Amino acid sequence: MLNTEKIRADFNVLNQKGVSAPVYLDSACMSLKPNNVIKAMNDYYFNFPACAGRSSHKLGDKVTNKVKEARELVQKFINAKSENEIIFTRNTTEGLNLLVNSLDFKKGDIVLISDKEHNSNLVPWLVLRDKIGVEVKIISANEDGTFNLENFSKLISGVKLVSIVHTSNLDGYTNPAKEIIEIAHKNGALVCLDAAQSIPHRKIDVQDLDVDFLSFSGHKMLGPTGTGVFYGKKELLEKLAPFLVGGDTVEFSTYDSYKMLPVPEKFEAGLQDYAGIIGLGEAVKYLSQFDWSDIREHELKLNAYITTELKKIKNIKIIGPEDPKLRSGIVNFYIDGTDMHKFAIMLDEVANISIRSGQHCVHSWFKGKGIHNSARVSLYLYNTMADAEAFINNLNKVLKVF
Ligand SMILES: Cc1ncc(COP(=O)(O)O)c(C=O)c1O
Repeated sequence: MLNTEKIRADFNVLNQKGVSAPVYLDSACMSLKPNNVIKAMNDYYFNFPACAGRSSHKLGDKVTNKVKEARELVQKFINAKSENEIIFTRNTTEGLNLLVNSLDFKKGDIVLISDKEHNSNLVPWLVLRDKIGVEVKIISANEDGTFNLENFSKLISGVKLVSIVHTSNLDGYTNPAKEIIEIAHKNGALVCLDAAQSIPHRKIDVQDLDVDFLSFSGHKMLGPTGTGVFYGKKELLEKLAPFLVGGDTVEFSTYDSYKMLPVPEKFEAGLQDYAGIIGLGEAVKYLSQFDWSDIREHELKLNAYITTELKKIKNIKIIGPEDPKLRSGIVNFYIDGTDMHKFAIMLDEVANISIRSGQHCVHSWFKGKGIHNSARVSLYLYNTMADAEAFINNLNKVLKVF
């Protein structure tokens, strides 16, 4: 069982003197940051704000070692075979764009995505389609948001790459990645998982999944803002041609030639966000002290309470599967004919409750369903039953105004 009181003590934003703590229910957008992450970043800026991998002085060596340590922590966290399979990025979006722009796509190649992709795993493929003529196929979810493996098996033939969301930010449903990957591989397709929403909440073992590529953000898993990781199997990364090149990506250059460095360096162009990378390592350390089953059980308890209470309210529709067990930490809902933005703003104003409203960067799905917008509660390990109750009590008050 999680000790939320102890956990909350680690987050300054929840313990500011003279300021009431926000009821923070927007972790799917941005998680809060524990103090050890902030401290490690400050330590870099205060005490050794130098370059990694370039300068042979004590400060430079310290940064190099800290970055290496962070890379190894991430490697262990996702059980990658080698730390060279870990590429630091700014976010999930950058990792996905790295793949779109680095794999050897040709006109007519087929990429299969789902109908619930975040813009970050839809728009880059549409741009590639418009640029070189790849075909973007879309698999629709079942009516309740669950994955249709049978349809997938029918659509997979001839596909070069399946790029699919692992846990959806729209409804919290986790696609059956292992089965998807197995079917894809049997049919000669590669698989990339958008793990932005899964990595903060569940164990990801890239070797067990046998996934080819995986992209995630540090800022949704307690890490610093603007940090992320792109993972790839080493033998595949070696074949990719980096699309961002320059300093730190080459062993040497002449006026008319260059020799690329091996992975991961060839993908990490220019000076990096060393404080962010070090902070991400600390976030991994922080998360690693918990059992994933405790995190899941905790989120589920709060989600089940909120779901039960929402179901009592006439006109509220929950997006995705009814069963909260299938929606991890997310409850996304709407009321026909109601602007959920106004609703979210009121909750914030009257009760200091932070939720997200809008189309959650999945405009395509909302347009397809003819739904204007929704309000999304997303839970994490620092939320309490008191947060869930505050949300429900104030929701009822705000609904009366509507
Ligand atoms: C499922 C999913 N994919 C991709 C992204 C993009 O993440 P980032 O903005 O950190 O690149 C998000 C962000 O909310 C997301 O939820």
